[in-house]
Amino acid sequence: MSGPSSDLMTEHPHRTHTCGELSDIHLGENVVLKGWVDTRRDLGGVIFVDLRDRYGLTQVVFSPQDNVAAHDLADRLRSEYVVSVIGIVAPRSSETINPNLSTGTIEVRVESLIILAESEPMPFPVSAHTQKIKLASEDLRLKYRYLDLRRPDLQNKIVLRHRAYQTIHRYFDAQNFLEVETPTLMKSTPEGARDYLVPSRVHPGSFYALPQSPQTYKQLLMVGGLDRYVQIVKCFRDEDLRADRQPEFTQIDIEMTFATEDMVYSVTEGLLVALWKDILNVDLPIPFPRLSYEDALRRYGSDKPDLRFDLEICDLSSVFNNSGFRVFDQALSAGGSVLGLVAPGQGDRGRGYMDRLDKTVVRKQIGAGGLIYVRIPSDGSRPNCSVKTHVLPDEFVSSAIEASGAQTGDLLLILCGQWPTVQEQMGSLRLHMAQELDCIAEDAWQFVWITNFPLLEWDAQEKRYSAMHHPFTSPRTEDLQLLSSDPGHVQARAYDIVLNGMEIGGGSIRIHDRSIQEQMFNVLGIDPEESQERFGFLLEALRYGAPPHGGIAMGLDRIVMLLSGSTSLREVIAFPKTQSAQEPMSGTPTTVAPERLNELHVRYVPKAK
Ligand code: AMO
Repeated sequence: MSGPSSDLMTEHPHRTHTCGELSDIHLGENVVLKGWVDTRRDLGGVIFVDLRDRYGLTQVVFSPQDNVAAHDLADRLRSEYVVSVIGIVAPRSSETINPNLSTGTIEVRVESLIILAESEPMPFPVSAHTQKIKLASEDLRLKYRYLDLRRPDLQNKIVLRHRAYQTIHRYFDAQNFLEVETPTLMKSTPEGARDYLVPSRVHPGSFYALPQSPQTYKQLLMVGGLDRYVQIVKCFRDEDLRADRQPEFTQIDIEMTFATEDMVYSVTEGLLVALWKDILNVDLPIPFPRLSYEDALRRYGSDKPDLRFDLEICDLSSVFNNSGFRVFDQALSAGGSVLGLVAPGQGDRGRGYMDRLDKTVVRKQIGAGGLIYVRIPSDGSRPNCSVKTHVLPDEFVSSAIEASGAQTGDLLLILCGQWPTVQEQMGSLRLHMAQELDCIAEDAWQFVWITNFPLLEWDAQEKRYSAMHHPFTSPRTEDLQLLSSDPGHVQARAYDIVLNGMEIGGGSIRIHDRSIQEQMFNVLGIDPEESQERFGFLLEALRYGAPPHGGIAMGLDRIVMLLSGSTSLREVIAFPKTQSAQEPMSGTPTTVAPERLNELHVRYVPKAK
């Protein structure tokens, strides 16, 4: 076939189709495609290129019979060159049909080729075909994030995130919520982390804080009569990072006037149902189960329990009462507990395994004092306890086996200590054992509301109470009288929503009564002068008909991470930061010129060596 001479064409028309669009219905059509060279194969003089864009891959074929000039130019093509081709859609020969590709039954026989951009050899492959191949190191991929973003796997996650935004907007609009933007330069709101501060040029010595959350603003919107507020909002927290934490992250932030806990649960569940339906076509059963904070800790050793597997903790304190074993007696007489966890089918484990579990997992990773265990061999022989029988008599061990429900062939793991530390340690051991036993239903979606949180937690270092959620959370009405006499026992009208062991949201009914808010600041050790200085604007607002209100904020990044089956937030954020809060591509954070610091009335004082 002799088409237009490609070497004479310096420009092509706009693309007629994307690289994921063509199929049998387009056979015989003249098309213009543009995209990246994903792979190039030269098979005996005919060059096959997989052309890639966000939408997919199309095989384009350069044959000297179709067009000599295009074929000759195609010889120069290398991975990641950007090209434009004009050609005709043709059927693939039966042996080259690819059923895994939407365009797998056709190819485009090229009559004209233009190279729009060349590429130097890539620092790492991004080809659609390399998805299954071991990825380059994350450091390298983050340095060239714009190249990593070409990988279909990563692009699909960005697309999924986009789809989540659309569902969220549709859902809240239909529910009468108003999307309102709150300031990014604001006065600090405490959410438990450090603020990122922005120095003011025009007010020497003064600073804005980037929002850890728009908590105070959304409450003031309720005082302002906006009734129902939602915002997909960036929040900033200068805290120690982990796989599930980023220094800047996105919340779906919600506040409702006249809200009760049940109203917040129902709005939240509706949103999650819509997201799971739209994105995964999964019908989530609602209402989600609810578990009090105390029960969650008691049964699962965590306020974000993973309920995809059973393994419940049992309290063996009464069994070991007065056992004479010093370790247990000490823990119990100090008001603590002895807890057990049954690992089914692990009763034949050898000493080496048990020692590793004790030293590496229990002591080192979990930070507990030590593990006590009872192995119940599968051959029916006598249970074997790690504590010698003259130290911990057999009858106590037998009672513990019975109380825990452990069977022949099981392993009973025991820890002791004080609430809530020992519960949390057992919770970590529970997770470890579940992974080891491979009993986590990976495709399950186990949502649970955690309720009845304590309002306050004791900060042993600072020797004062701090708010478990934040200082604007309302105490339960029935506990109000305890606020001054026994603050540690006051429960909050706060809740978290947990999915598969990850906290994906948290919120509360707020304090709308000025005197209770003042009392709360007082309990937190914030004196009237300081509370006036820090939160005077909020206290002032509570003077003028502040309605009851409450809300929640959900971690959008975490939700998208779970929806997309990712294991790190970095996979669902276009330009994420590393564990050390840096962005390797641009090198952020960087130093700035001294003149700019002068302008901001800021001086850098290097750390003394
Ligand atoms: P909270 O601090 O619980 O509540 O935050 C709400 C949700 O935001 C997500 N999240 C994070 N995600 C990624 N990286 C982080 N560093 C990070 N920190 C929090 C979590 C969390 O559940 N103002 C209150 C909400 C309210 O009371 O309405 C607040 O911010 O999924």
